[in-house]
Amino acid sequence: MLQLQSITKSYPSGSTVRTVLDGLSLDVEKGETLAIVGPSGSGKTTLLNIIGTLDKADSGTAVFEGANLMEMNSNELPGFRNRKIGMVFQLHHLLPQCTLWENVLVPAIPLKSKNNEAEQRAEELLKRTGIWEQRFQKPAELSGGECQRAAVVRALINRPSLILADEPTGALDHENAELLTNLLLELNKELNTALIVVTHSMELALKMGKVYKLVDGKLVDG
Ligand SMILES: Nc1ncnc2c1ncn2[C@@H]1O[C@H](COP(=O)(O)OP(=O)(O)OP(=O)(O)O)[C@@H](O)[C@H]1O
Ligand SMILES: [Mg+2]
Repeated sequence: MLQLQSITKSYPSGSTVRTVLDGLSLDVEKGETLAIVGPSGSGKTTLLNIIGTLDKADSGTAVFEGANLMEMNSNELPGFRNRKIGMVFQLHHLLPQCTLWENVLVPAIPLKSKNNEAEQRAEELLKRTGIWEQRFQKPAELSGGECQRAAVVRALINRPSLILADEPTGALDHENAELLTNLLLELNKELNTALIVVTHSMELALKMGKVYKLVDGKLVDG
């Protein structure tokens, strides 16, 4: 479903240029789960941002379900991203003034014709993740684990084919981290949504089908 080849990405660093991704390749199959590990600053978030179309590689090829990400323009990208890719971050980034119910439905707003379907799906997923009773509460009235589960529901609301999770359990205690990891894996099986997780936790990484390490701008078997 996703093929990256010879991806490079550099950033200016003082008077020089720092090459973060250096000829990186990656092939992800439909429904696959994989972890990306690597030291701080090795380029993991940079890579997720390129896959998630939030950032563009300097060179290389990136094809997502047949669409060439390198050639897509800024008008096409937001709609593509919203339909195809769900994202979960270390901090939930829920809107503080909105209830959980409103928050998880935000990505469905641009897809107006599908709103009814999205509400049914929100109900299913909120029940499935154990936060249905809390749906009319705001993020500040919920625990960190509950907010993070809501972020997972929001990421899945438009039936994406890929979930990108950048340190999704980084702000959770061990019990909630395990709960969220198991939830991501169960939903991956049920919905056949591919899952790429960036993590510092070897425990989490080893639960994924494959583990890659980002070293010198390339992925190697972890
Ligand atoms: N917008 C930017 N401008 C300049 N440099 C950047 C930018 N984004 C990232 N970098 C640099 O690129 C390198 C890789 O950053 P990245 O955030 O991808 O690392 P990471 O592996 O996700 O690290 P961490 O585990 O700490 O989250 C770092 O040296 C960082 O300073
Ligand atoms: Mg990062």
